[in-house]
Amino acid sequence: MDYLETAIDLCRAAGDILNYYADREKLVEFKGHANLVTIADKKSEELIIGGILNRYPSHSILAEESGATQPGASVKWIIDPLDGTTNFAHGYPFYCVSIAVEQNGEVVCGAVYDPVRDEMFSAARGVGAYRNGERLRVSEVTGLSQALLITGFPYNFRERLETVMSQFGKFLVASQAVRRGGSAALDLCYVASGRIDGFWELYLQPWDTAAGRVILEEAGGRVTDFKGGPFSIYMKEMLASNGLLHDEMRAVLA
Ligand code: IPD
Ligand code: CA
Ligand code: CA
Repeated sequence: MDYLETAIDLCRAAGDILNYYADREKLVEFKGHANLVTIADKKSEELIIGGILNRYPSHSILAEESGATQPGASVKWIIDPLDGTTNFAHGYPFYCVSIAVEQNGEVVCGAVYDPVRDEMFSAARGVGAYRNGERLRVSEVTGLSQALLITGFPYNFRERLETVMSQFGKFLVASQAVRRGGSAALDLCYVASGRIDGFWELYLQPWDTAAGRVILEEAGGRVTDFKGGPFSIYMKEMLASNGLLHDEMRAVLA
């Protein structure tokens, strides 16, 4: 699909920008107490939006740093120019670029690129998920006690500390281990790859989840809200798994 090729090309080009700034001055600014933005976020987003509008001047854009532009078109590009900014700012090598395409309200394809490991995750509805051209499949772990989970803490965790820590504690006890990746888009691609078995997080944004969600579903995974109901990228809670663990994870969140 033409849109997916564009998303892949732009993810790779934006990844080069992240690599360039990885060992240079990053000009860190604070959007909130722990919410950072760097020159790399801005340059990456500029390149991606420029590339999209150059090819598709009438499409809508929803991008983390610049918000919504030209709303109302039937095709919307949903962009996180750097998912994992805190990791990036500290030189912790777990971050990515995420680009998804929503058509008539449905996310139809997406790409997530990890420039540190040169791993390109991509998927289009109905044609499967791939990592550097190889087909992806979720893990076959069936029991939560055998599962490796991953999560994230929202930037506003102070306001919901009890809920966040109680969910974290319950999964810590019920699973084999829990990781905190720091890049929700990459976390979802790791579930799609079978490296991780399940994921949950509160207060995510559409640009964190749009591409990762289609990649995970196309790899055979399941994505819902915390109650097991239909998920939307405009929702603030996400439960994602290899499918086999879903009911057990939902019960922990109940
Ligand atoms: C953040 C990451 C992190 C998640 C936060 C997100 P950013 O995105 O995805 O894993 O826990 O909720 O905001 O700010 O690095 O693009
Ligand atoms: Ca993000
Ligand atoms: Ca970001």
